[in-house]
Amino acid sequence: MGKRVYNFSAGPAMLPLEVLEASAKALVDYQGKGYGIAEISHRSKDFDAVMDETKSRARSLMGIPDGYDIVFSQGGASQLFITIPWNFLQGSADYVVTGEWAKKAAEAAKPYGTVNVLASSESTGFDRIPTGWKPSANASYFHICTNNTIYGTRWSTMPEHPVLFADMSSEFMARVVDVKKFALIYGGAQKNLGPSGVCMSIVRKDLYAKINKSVPKLFNYQVLAEQDSRINTPPTFGIYMLLETYRWIEKQGGIKAIEARNEEKAKLIYDAIDRAPDFYKGTVSDIPNRSRMNITFRLPNEALTDKFIKEAEKQGMTALKGYRTVGGIRASTYNAMPVEGCVALAKHMDEFHAANRT
Ligand SMILES: Cc1ncc(COP(=O)(O)O)c(C=O)c1O
Repeated sequence: MGKRVYNFSAGPAMLPLEVLEASAKALVDYQGKGYGIAEISHRSKDFDAVMDETKSRARSLMGIPDGYDIVFSQGGASQLFITIPWNFLQGSADYVVTGEWAKKAAEAAKPYGTVNVLASSESTGFDRIPTGWKPSANASYFHICTNNTIYGTRWSTMPEHPVLFADMSSEFMARVVDVKKFALIYGGAQKNLGPSGVCMSIVRKDLYAKINKSVPKLFNYQVLAEQDSRINTPPTFGIYMLLETYRWIEKQGGIKAIEARNEEKAKLIYDAIDRAPDFYKGTVSDIPNRSRMNITFRLPNEALTDKFIKEAEKQGMTALKGYRTVGGIRASTYNAMPVEGCVALAKHMDEFHAANRT
């Protein structure tokens, strides 16, 4: 195998080498049985065991109480932007728009009822988490995106609401969350948990009573949960990779230890920005709500930005280009990014600043 680079991709993103190796082994020969994990029925005993262990490890890692189900689905978080209001929106729902994905989620809900956008930070380039909003009295639920992958903000304190729905795609299992404070948590796997093609939802069971009758079985959260995410063939290999990731998170000391490491990693890069404030400009003005997963900043001009990226690549650091509508640099430092990767990036930032400042 060639040398692994520090891959700062926003997603699909870097995964732990141990997870990749264990999954690759299982793909070729599952536990020495002469077949790979992707070659067996999703209703086989082997896969039943994979499903059970994946869910029980997720439960213990995140402290998911009995009153919640875990559902795996395909179609990406974007499909859940539709499935969720289809299931649970009756009348109206509240959304706070903190970035592109939160905005897409709010748009996708419109065919199902009234969407109240309580607040949006779009007019300031999504550089903050808006404040001063008030939930509506009769909304079916209140929806947030906890970490804004493109703009580099996060809800450092989660809002309180009896029916709180959260897209956690870009910080799933990257920080400790109190699941009891949420009615629904969901996200795509392809940043912190595994490959693209599989989503995980954590659903409070009392929501089932209200599911709209028009939802077909394949998209109905209650049926999905009752049939153990296997109404039809689920993304079996993707689910297997989640299991390997959960084993790995446990070996790291659990989510609390992962979160501490994520804090340390993000601080290395934010400190490098702060050491050269005339050269590197963070795109987020709301400092307490800066993301620990996606660190966004700009250099003085495009030419320097390109040079920064090219020189980083030569040193084994890839995928640092900011999102197309934002520009600049985005360093995504998900769970699998080692501390050394952030040390290397911070060093590159210092050296690049020293060599290129005017
Ligand atoms: C926070 C967030 N939500 C939703 C999505 C959309 O995910 P998908 O491409 O799986 O539909 C993304 C993709 O990057 C994201 O970052």
